[in-house]
Amino acid sequence: METKLTNKKRVLAGMRATGRLHLGNYLGGALGMVELQNNPEYETFYMVADVHCITTPYAVSELRESRKDVIIDYLAVGLDPDKSTIFVQSMVPTHLELQFYLSSVITVARMQHLPTYKEKVAQYPTHVTMALLNYPVLMAADILAYKAHKVPVGIDQEPHLEAARQIARNVNEIYGTDFPEPVRFATKGSYVPSLLGEGKMSKTVEGSYINLTDSLDTIKAKLAKTPTDEGRGTKVPERGHVANLFTFVELFMGEDTRKDYEHAYTTSKVSYKDLKEKLGNAIYEKLKPIQEKRLEVASREGYVEDVINEGAKKALEVTQRTLSQLKEKMGF
Ligand code: TRP
Repeated sequence: METKLTNKKRVLAGMRATGRLHLGNYLGGALGMVELQNNPEYETFYMVADVHCITTPYAVSELRESRKDVIIDYLAVGLDPDKSTIFVQSMVPTHLELQFYLSSVITVARMQHLPTYKEKVAQYPTHVTMALLNYPVLMAADILAYKAHKVPVGIDQEPHLEAARQIARNVNEIYGTDFPEPVRFATKGSYVPSLLGEGKMSKTVEGSYINLTDSLDTIKAKLAKTPTDEGRGTKVPERGHVANLFTFVELFMGEDTRKDYEHAYTTSKVSYKDLKEKLGNAIYEKLKPIQEKRLEVASREGYVEDVINEGAKKALEVTQRTLSQLKEKMGF
């Protein structure tokens, strides 16, 4: 079966197979994925990046379950297999083949220079593997395999997108191909801070995140643990725990409510007990329909498997086309 080529611009995004999504994944990535899916100008491809997991130490026994959890969350937040191609990276081996070809147009020095690489080297000094160095090349291959124009991901992925653009430029220049330079598609609130006051919400930092599947009690318990101050001062804090709490208020209760709390901070006093209570409820209200959808998706026997098998077929077809074009240009 030959899929009809459309004139639509393509979108590709992925998340590492780290299990259930948290609020950072949702606001920073998934919301943008849904938005582009529902825009008829785009053809959307969304995957779980399970191959990327082997670039750092990982639990073999958990990988399969983790990637399934991400797919279920994708479906729960509104990705629709009738509108998007939803798939698992390792089921589309053309990404890996393309990755090796693309690795020939970028230098080792350029890859070693990436901040994400340096962070991982510091974190796992005894696991500085070739796969780790190749992480951004594989990500570039994921994107270029679809000749994607837009990539809805969080701002922390910008250095990787820069590398992907450079790879696209280099391969176009050397081999006369026509890869577009992919740009990041940002949503409002694409940077979700950690509950711990420093850095971003992250799966690898315990206590920093709220999962999409968290109950109201769990959400409130997590919020209760975030440290605060006395609730008043001459100036609203710009960073740290309190600043982050205000950011959450804005994301889930709106800008006006944030302003009200900020006003209270410099005039009367903020009651954090009250703020956390209302914020917890507001977060849960957003998550409740997602959680209901998740239960429904997870209860449909064989559904997830059908979605990813169909997705892999379509993804293979599209990427094989790209790969043949490149191989031809490269003289194979
Ligand atoms: N590096 C991304 C992250 O950590 C995951 C990813 C892998 C990705 N391949 C991709 C994102 C391609 C967008 C496009 O979140």
